[in-house]
Amino acid sequence: MTNKRYLIETWGCQMNEHDSEKISGILRSLGYKEAENRNNADLIIFNTCLVRENAELKVYGNIGELKRLKRKNKDLTVAICGCMMQKKEVRDVIREKYKQVDIIFGTHNIHKLPELLENYRQSDNMLIDVWEDSGEIIEQIPTKRKYDYKAFLNIMYGCNNFCTYCIVPYTRGREKSRNPEEILKEVNRLAKEGFKEITLLGQNVNSYGKTLNSKMTFAELLRKINEVDGIKRIRFMTSHPKDLSDELIYAIRDCENICKHIHLPFQAGSNKILKLMNRKYTKEQYLDLMYKIRQEIPEIAITTDIIVGFPNETEKDFEETLDVVRKSRFDSAFTFLYSVREGTPAAKMENQIPDKVKHERFQKLLDTLHPISYENNKRTIGKTFDVLVEGVSKNDDTMYTGRTGTNKLVHFKANEEFIGKIVNVKINSVKTWSLQGEIVD
Ligand code: SAH
Ligand code: SF4
Ligand code: F3S
Repeated sequence: MTNKRYLIETWGCQMNEHDSEKISGILRSLGYKEAENRNNADLIIFNTCLVRENAELKVYGNIGELKRLKRKNKDLTVAICGCMMQKKEVRDVIREKYKQVDIIFGTHNIHKLPELLENYRQSDNMLIDVWEDSGEIIEQIPTKRKYDYKAFLNIMYGCNNFCTYCIVPYTRGREKSRNPEEILKEVNRLAKEGFKEITLLGQNVNSYGKTLNSKMTFAELLRKINEVDGIKRIRFMTSHPKDLSDELIYAIRDCENICKHIHLPFQAGSNKILKLMNRKYTKEQYLDLMYKIRQEIPEIAITTDIIVGFPNETEKDFEETLDVVRKSRFDSAFTFLYSVREGTPAAKMENQIPDKVKHERFQKLLDTLHPISYENNKRTIGKTFDVLVEGVSKNDDTMYTGRTGTNKLVHFKANEEFIGKIVNVKINSVKTWSLQGEIVD
């Protein structure tokens, strides 16, 4: 046991956020306590992301800043983990240029952290231990969750889709589904502990079960989780359009506790670009899917991810993206400039798009998306939604925020006692990014 303090800083997606909760749980089981900031930490861990270049650059900048801290505190241990560390080229750069780093580990051996810390203590050289892929799924890793009313839960790991722009299959390994019994055990445990909302995580949750002997589908899993008493909200991400079945649409429609929200990235509107991206659906198939979902579940919110400036994207191709946006009426969208990722097929494609063109298209995309989000939000005025209260608003400490089942951010007057509770909020006014209302009975 130790009385040392740790600090974890996390970049990237919810998968990484949840991995950090596991790292936190492991360190606590070793007796570590959480530090308030970098200055009073004995162990600093960066959990990194490299999905786009800017994510990667931020991490290098932050590792650079640790040099000064390390000079001040000779006992400080610095560990870097996460997706960036799965790339040999990145590890080589750190080994050569960032001597302030003590330990490097990857996305597949988080559970080995106690051993790594012990081995490092005995050696004093930079310790690098990264696995190419995971073997069996490791269950029962202690987890210190960030919130006590909402929780992330892995239902699968890795990705087999190999979208040509994306580095994730190379950093997270091959797709593996967790056993349904283990998932249900965890859901039941969370319900007993008082959690109200769970988010099921996977790079493509719709292909859940394909690697299992029992061949359970995602829709079947959802129906089982819906039966668990106490869990009021079930969220999941991400859904790949190519694998979204009717069976799943019906499960979302029928199950009371499943949030009426789907995150359904379409990435690009042109069939030529979709093919080059290896997305395995056409614009028409995506739009048909969207109409079908809306027909079955009229109140559903649909959000998406869009990439602009993929290699070979012409003005006409980009217009197809805008066309999908106009027809789909997304509630919101994450928008990205295509970023070259070494090691992916798209990085080697000819006809890369100049930055200036990417930025112009990006702006046009936002100008198309924002009025649609605003219009969608306007339709909520006068309606009442159940909202899970999360905390004090960032800009105004008399206001609290929470999310609707459809994942819209809502501001309203409340007090501390409401945090973690589900309340009814009537919407009075809206902006592009949020709704404002009041708690009603
Ligand atoms: N598995 C999820 C999430 C993948 S990463 C999914 O398939 O949706 C999240 C988003 O980042 C992707 O949906 C994509 O829009 C974006 N992204 C991934 N690689 C990118 C790249 N090289 N350049 C720009 N955006 C990228
Ligand atoms: Fe990346 Fe595509 Fe896998 Fe998502 S489905 S993680 S975008 S390769
Ligand atoms: Fe997530 Fe970034 Fe890895 S988006 S899976 S943390 S590369």
